[in-house]
Amino acid sequence: MTPAPSEPPALSTAGLCRAFGPVQAVTGVTLSVEKGEMFGLVGPDGGGKSTLIRLLCGILTPTAGSGTVLGLDLVRDAEAIKARIGYLSQAFTLYGDLTVDENIEFFADIHGVGDFRTRRDELLEFTRLTPFRKRLAEALSGGMKKKLALACTLIHTPEIIFLDEPSTGVDPVSRGEFWSILSRILSQGVTVFMTTPYLDEAERCHRVALMHRGTLVQTGTPAEIKARLPGQLYRIDCRNLGEAYRALKQRWTPSQLVRYGDRLHFRAIRGDDERQEAQAWLASQGAGECRFEAIAPSLEDVFVAEMSAAGAKGDGMNFSSDGITLSGKD
Ligand SMILES: Nc1ncnc2c1ncn2[C@@H]1O[C@H](COP(=O)(O)OP(=O)(O)OP(=O)(O)O)[C@@H](O)[C@H]1O
Ligand SMILES: [Mg+2]
Repeated sequence: MTPAPSEPPALSTAGLCRAFGPVQAVTGVTLSVEKGEMFGLVGPDGGGKSTLIRLLCGILTPTAGSGTVLGLDLVRDAEAIKARIGYLSQAFTLYGDLTVDENIEFFADIHGVGDFRTRRDELLEFTRLTPFRKRLAEALSGGMKKKLALACTLIHTPEIIFLDEPSTGVDPVSRGEFWSILSRILSQGVTVFMTTPYLDEAERCHRVALMHRGTLVQTGTPAEIKARLPGQLYRIDCRNLGEAYRALKQRWTPSQLVRYGDRLHFRAIRGDDERQEAQAWLASQGAGECRFEAIAPSLEDVFVAEMSAAGAKGDGMNFSSDGITLSGKD
């Protein structure tokens, strides 16, 4: 469900920048996120995702530009922002020698939540951690630790939560469960702003931005972003994909040609003529019979094309054979 656009946004920024000495980590980010929206930020390692989140949480001061979160100014009202948001940092750690209950209590104290017990019970039910509440955090599985971290982030009933790679390193089953918890958080009206290296997760967000070298190179709904990719995409089937890939690489640019493990995609910008040229070229190069099947692009296809066009090779992109990671984190 897309939120009503008439409400004031949950956050908005104009030309937001942050430099660390000579490093421009975030450069000129202008963005608006509606209340109740789930917004996903994806991009290669070092693209500036964590820095942008920390700016939005009032933890880092911008070097230029401005922004608001829940109507509060990022610089002037940084302390008030921190009290009303939840932040699950990329390096979030629980206290291993405290139990599940005690960890939540600790975060309730930090946020000055006096009567936290009812909320804690709710969150434990919500995350299905009630049976484990007396267990030390260090004895939890990876997926359970993430759920406990999320419960800690939610103890003070924030209106917006910032999750920096919440599901990295979590097995697929636990990721599924984590996502159903996120859906329930959303249905309660909480705005979710997250980063993820998984493009299948990005597909589930209302809107997505691709961040590269400190800027947002694409922003939109997954459908809008996919519709912007020029040309027709084909999946190539043939006897020897490696040979076909090498042959096509001689004449076509990396932004039109992507090999993901056992799949080879070709993007014909000029349509069917270009598809026929590629097929004839493969035949002339002895690649055997190759079949071209027209397919709809995934976010991954769009992002590979963007990154190739931006010359991002070697920027930490690593596409696994199932094609879901953008930054090689698993
Ligand atoms: N405290 C800091 N001091 C100096 N440089 C920093 C600091 N924090 C981030 N950077 C630099 O800013 C750039 C952006 O880093 P950031 O952590 O925001 O990227 P990211 O997109 O979150 O990457 P990843 O996917 O690896 O988490 C990088 O070049 C990084 O080295
Ligand atoms: Mg990061």
